[in-house]
Amino acid sequence: MALLPIIVAPDPRLKIKCEAVEEVTKDLRKLAADMLETMYDAPGIGLAAPQVGVPKRLIVVDVAKGEDEPHPYQMINPEISWASDELLDYEEGCLSLPEHYAQVTRPEKIRVSFLDLTGQPQEIEASGILATCIQHEMDHLDGVLFVDHLSKLRRDLIIRKLKKYKASLPPEKLEA
Ligand code: NI
Repeated sequence: MALLPIIVAPDPRLKIKCEAVEEVTKDLRKLAADMLETMYDAPGIGLAAPQVGVPKRLIVVDVAKGEDEPHPYQMINPEISWASDELLDYEEGCLSLPEHYAQVTRPEKIRVSFLDLTGQPQEIEASGILATCIQHEMDHLDGVLFVDHLSKLRRDLIIRKLKKYKASLPPEKLEA
């Protein structure tokens, strides 16, 4: 396994609509394993393939806390088949927007279908932080960042700070 460099916003690679995965290959399983390792190392609770420069519909998520057993999800071509009317406000962050957080409102419960790493269709119901995290990661697959849910003023402020932050990094650290 390997740690992958995480792309920091603003970056055009974070703004594209990703392609569906046509076939679950050995390479894709390796990518999913590397993404999970990269996410745990960061540490973070979710990561989408475009954040490591791969424009494919693949996300990894694990919202288990502290001493709890890890409970990873690796979802290929995830789709939301149902979302609750009840909403949840959650203070979101993103490994591609380091040090920035903001409250985003999303459906509190969702049903999501996806392919697992053997190519089998699966469906789960998620609520609370797991539902929030899955929706956040799925947004990445359509080039949407959590700041895109905020006012333009707030978004521009955060993006401007990130530009400054990126400019202050030595070149080899740009994607670290
Ligand atoms: Ni994110």
